[in-house]
Amino acid sequence: MTTMESLIGLVNRIQRACTVLGDYGGSDSSFSLWEALPSVAVVGGQSSGKSSVLESIVGRDFLPRGSGIVTRRPLVLQLHKTDEGTQEYAEFLHLPKRRFTDFAMVRKEIQDETDRITGKSKQISPVPIHLSIYSPNVVNLTLIDLPGLTKVAVEGQPESIVEDIENMVRSYVEKPNSIILAISPANQDIATSDAIKLAREVDPTGDRTFGVLTKLDLMDKGTNALDVIEGRSYRLQHPWVGVVNRSQADINKNTDMVLARRKEREYFATSADYGHLASRMGSEYLAKLLSKHLESVIRARIPSITSMINKSIDELESEMDHLGRPIAVDAGAQLYTILELCRAFDRIFKEHLDGGRPGGDR
Ligand code: GDP
Ligand code: NA
Ligand code: MG
Repeated sequence: MTTMESLIGLVNRIQRACTVLGDYGGSDSSFSLWEALPSVAVVGGQSSGKSSVLESIVGRDFLPRGSGIVTRRPLVLQLHKTDEGTQEYAEFLHLPKRRFTDFAMVRKEIQDETDRITGKSKQISPVPIHLSIYSPNVVNLTLIDLPGLTKVAVEGQPESIVEDIENMVRSYVEKPNSIILAISPANQDIATSDAIKLAREVDPTGDRTFGVLTKLDLMDKGTNALDVIEGRSYRLQHPWVGVVNRSQADINKNTDMVLARRKEREYFATSADYGHLASRMGSEYLAKLLSKHLESVIRARIPSITSMINKSIDELESEMDHLGRPIAVDAGAQLYTILELCRAFDRIFKEHLDGGRPGGDR
């Protein structure tokens, strides 16, 4: 691993350890490290393809997908890159002792855990589900899947749901540390995109927004999305990325991820409209683009992250000092974990990057 990979891996683990202690942004915890660390929030209208894009980035089938409001609680998904040859597994924060190696069971647990809080109704809840995936095949990233923005309440939902969802999504994307993955389907007019509308509101300069165009394969024959993809319809600081996810028919047929990715590559390579852009399209490219961006964000924020971490080390040390026997063993152990991770970050930073040569390892 490069120094940056190690640092991003540590950032990921610090975020997770903070989460275990109940610190995920909004909280008033004394050391809100989470706020200093970047994460990627996936936003878009209902059925625009958010969950599909997330699965493609991970390279695994594990999310409930389909028409209607499927994602009803935020899913905070942390990807941890592990050493080559290690077993891939997933772990939920609410089930700390259980390792999932069967990703169909991960999907079922997300559904069950959603229902546990919201009932089997179509209600939504702002209480996030935290899932970590450990795999040699992922890049170190924190991604957040959010309920889809919608324009009308359906049968059984309160009228307020439209606004409730929008406010929930906004609370994630308005944070300056949030990188916005704005998902719009190519078979709808970009001018009506819920994702772009919200992104424009919270990130008017487009600095932290990545536009993703899904469903290119579903556009009417004889039309294409070049105006959007080439930035003429709506300009962002980062290039637009077009993707082709699995269709509902593919999902029903259980088309696996490897085949889906190959089909996506073929789609772009052989496309008369997008062939010239093939190397900059598709889910694999999107995953690399995001992880590169994350790396540059963390690189730029290293001074503030290290000062935050040093402050946390001080606070944690004094908190540890005050920690008498009666205090919950778990909390103590967790504080200790965070402290150790912070020290490791500080050590790697000092050894490899300090002294005006950020990124000196590459
Ligand atoms: P979400 O509600 O935004 O999370 O959307 P999902 O990922 O659940 O996708 C909604 C539906 O659109 C599913 O049936 C997907 O199979 C389908 N879908 C998503 N992306 C694409 C795409 O690029 N092409 C095609 N043909 N179908 C897609
Ligand atoms: Na959906
Ligand atoms: Mg979804």
